[in-house]
Amino acid sequence: MSGPVFPQHIIARKRDGHILTDAEIASFVRGATDGSWADYQLSAMLMAIFLRGMTPAETATYTAAMMRSGIVADLGSVKLPKVDKHSTGGVGDKVSLHLAPMVAACGVAVPMISGRGLGHSGGTLDKLEAIPGFRVSLSLEEYRAQVERLGLCLIGQTAELAPADRKLYALRDVTATVECIPLICGSILAKKLAEGIDVLVLDVKFGRGAFMKEKAKARELAQALVAVATTMGKPTRALLTAMEEPLGRAVGNALEVAESIACLKGRGPADTMAVTFALGEQMLLLAGVATTAAEARRQLEQSLSTGAALSKFRAMVTAQGGDARVVDDPALLPQATIRLSVPSSRSGWVQDVDAMQVALAALRLGAGRARAEDKVDPAVGVGALVKRGERIEAGAAWAIVHANDQRAAQEAVAMLTKAMVVGDQPPPAVELIGELIGA
Ligand code: URA
Repeated sequence: MSGPVFPQHIIARKRDGHILTDAEIASFVRGATDGSWADYQLSAMLMAIFLRGMTPAETATYTAAMMRSGIVADLGSVKLPKVDKHSTGGVGDKVSLHLAPMVAACGVAVPMISGRGLGHSGGTLDKLEAIPGFRVSLSLEEYRAQVERLGLCLIGQTAELAPADRKLYALRDVTATVECIPLICGSILAKKLAEGIDVLVLDVKFGRGAFMKEKAKARELAQALVAVATTMGKPTRALLTAMEEPLGRAVGNALEVAESIACLKGRGPADTMAVTFALGEQMLLLAGVATTAAEARRQLEQSLSTGAALSKFRAMVTAQGGDARVVDDPALLPQATIRLSVPSSRSGWVQDVDAMQVALAALRLGAGRARAEDKVDPAVGVGALVKRGERIEAGAAWAIVHANDQRAAQEAVAMLTKAMVVGDQPPPAVELIGELIGA
């Protein structure tokens, strides 16, 4: 006769390297959702999974249970194909802000639920909130109605979506169990697949400014994410992209919104647009509105040249309560009171701009959060960044610090002094867009 199964029995089975049953995984996720497992039991289980891993089948079961811990948005009333893009996060990664309206302008609905920045990487929600009045906390009904009407909505995670992840992510953060592929799969995909999408494109970043520093690890994560999402009936592809130098020339919330608006006006930095087009092509292909990458690229370029993507962005800002005048006059975005140049110590060719150092300087200025409860300053950051391969003269500014505090400004300049390297020859080309994973 079998008695009740206690959390400690399930923890012990994973601790000893066994494969968990669906019922055991369900008990763990339910325990995180309804409080029937204590935090110390959840933490012990997270560490057991971290050390012992999960099979692909366990990971898929875990992800499905995480997704079903809350509401799965029903976007059945939206007739267009529904596609989203998720990035594992980087420095200066403002791609969602302009890519979503570009793709929406190509006849695909983009329901996007995004996160806030934590640590060195920024978050789409913080960037959107730099637009005066912009509301990211819509109800699921408002979200559904906007996707139906505009084909585009960018909001924050609601309390009803994947609540088990909210609990477990907070525990992982303080128990050294974040860097674990099955746990990352469950966390990212539970939220993304609860949005009500049909297909998903992932930007899995590698390099010193990324969550995964090594390309091999990023590839492993991408393969796991694609396999699990596909098993769950959502066709998914992942692109590996490099995150060694910041993406674009701006890091900081309002500065990045201004850069995204420039992208929508056809004036985006080359690296940012290369990543944007590569991801957008996959979104249109997976959504079935283009049959070749070249055709998808033409549609995306047209969305820019006709102004259709910019109009979509403007309509989204208006619909979500934001001041759409920023589209024509980015000076209406929050502005910092102090601007300091960071001069190059010599003339030559830019060999390197260290994304992590730039991110840490932006964090010092208040552009990001060291802890989840910190407030961000939308106006501050690092702008006018020089790019690898460009020529620079001694004494010329290679970056401009935007600050609202003298001491933070001076410290950020000091932090940046060693972040850029100049050499005598142009540096060799590096790969920005890596391989594509998924059928
Ligand atoms: N982002 C998430 O949402 N979850 C993880 O586990 C890692 C990155």
